[in-house]
Amino acid sequence: MKISIKLGLWFSLCILLIEIISMTFLHRNLVHSRVHQELDSLLAKGNGHRAVLEIKSDPHTLSHIGLMGSQSDSQVVVTNTKGDIVISSGKITSSIEHILNIPIPVSNLPKTGKIIQDDWKKKQFIATLTPFYQKGQMSGYIYMFKNTDEVQKLINQLNKHLFVASVSILIFVLITVFFLSKALTKPLIIMKEATKKLSKGDFSVSLPKPSNDELGELSFSIQTLANDLNYIKQARNEFLASISHELRTPLTYINGYANIARRINLEEKDRLQYLNIIQEEAQRVSILLKELFDLAKLDQNTFSITKEKVNLDQFTKSIYERVFPAFSNKGIKLERSCPDNIMIDIDPIRFEQVLINLLDNSLKYSKVSTTTFIGILEENEKVQITVKDQGAGIPKDDLPHIFDRLYRVDKSRSRATGGFGLGLAIVKQLVEAHGGEITVESQVGEGTSFTIILQR
Ligand SMILES: Nc1ncnc2c1ncn2[C@@H]1O[C@H](COP(=O)(O)OP(=O)(O)OP(=O)(O)O)[C@@H](O)[C@H]1O
Ligand SMILES: [Mg+2]
Repeated sequence: MKISIKLGLWFSLCILLIEIISMTFLHRNLVHSRVHQELDSLLAKGNGHRAVLEIKSDPHTLSHIGLMGSQSDSQVVVTNTKGDIVISSGKITSSIEHILNIPIPVSNLPKTGKIIQDDWKKKQFIATLTPFYQKGQMSGYIYMFKNTDEVQKLINQLNKHLFVASVSILIFVLITVFFLSKALTKPLIIMKEATKKLSKGDFSVSLPKPSNDELGELSFSIQTLANDLNYIKQARNEFLASISHELRTPLTYINGYANIARRINLEEKDRLQYLNIIQEEAQRVSILLKELFDLAKLDQNTFSITKEKVNLDQFTKSIYERVFPAFSNKGIKLERSCPDNIMIDIDPIRFEQVLINLLDNSLKYSKVSTTTFIGILEENEKVQITVKDQGAGIPKDDLPHIFDRLYRVDKSRSRATGGFGLGLAIVKQLVEAHGGEITVESQVGEGTSFTIILQR
């Protein structure tokens, strides 16, 4: 069943229930107060006659009372203490006679009278009984009757009104519920369609501007998810395109040089040169594949980090000694500064990879007579490792992307500086796997500085 129908049915059911309960309550109260009004007025009339009769009860007064009664909508019957009718303002019908014959409860009959018949539904009359006294002696009873026809007519009219009101409220409510449930479920239906599209791999979802409530939050989340999936899809496509490009270039070289090297009348010296190129290119491919494999493992968190206590001074010194020859070969000064006795929990093999990658970049992108500096600082339980060079620098626009896979500032992959653009992506993953963070600052022409911050 559709959610709008379900919602509509539940709403209608609840409102119907509330309406039935409130209308029944209202009906009962109105009828009750109406009937009591009639009975009270009857009692008041009886008491009026009593007051007159207690002053004077001669035949003239009695006939006057009879006359008054015959002119009003109620009937008055006065009896003496034995129950004999003294005067009646109307005909004594059998139902009036029946009431007159009911034994009078003298002992608990209040002076102000009593209701003796209030069954307006079944009986033809409602009635009250008021005693009247003369010189302290009870001298008779005043019966007041009122035909229930009128009350019934009144109540029938009331019923009709209530029925019309109930039906109109119900129709109004049903129409409101119909539109309300449609309006409420519309965003849900739109979101359902959107997620259906997402599940089919179509990420071009655009949901209307979210409202400021839970549905709005859900819609916003779905939109964000769609955007993220779309971004990932694009990034994956670009990544695959870059990889195939990276693989195609060395393979083209290998294929080309292999063809030349196969020529029979080639000099041995040339053949060796071509074979060397083939080997270099094959190595490039295998390095690329190894780095990609490392990244894939880092992504899946299958890369195990085995931390141990490492003395940073000794650790950086050994790295310094390893890379120093390459730097001095290129005429670049390499400096290092590290306080003694900084102990830190890191995976030495993985962290060495981090520093070697950063130093490799400094070496690749710096010119002769510049200086590269490795600096370590300790501050409030944090250790800061900086690799700073005076190299080419990175343009502002490229800075946010340099940690992306296969991203290189110099898009032409020259043999001289021909990296894959994977080094920094690996560095970032490794630093984050250690719970640290890496930032970069750079000025074109002045140099670049990478800063790693690790918690101790
Ligand atoms: N110290 C630096 N000075 C100038 N540019 C840098 C520096 N470090 C990184 N870059 C720029 O950032 C890009 C990405 O660096 P990354 O280390 O990821 O790739 P790569 O060095 O080109 O290749 P790989 O490290 O995979 O061999 C580089 O191509 C280079 O343009
Ligand atoms: Mg690199």
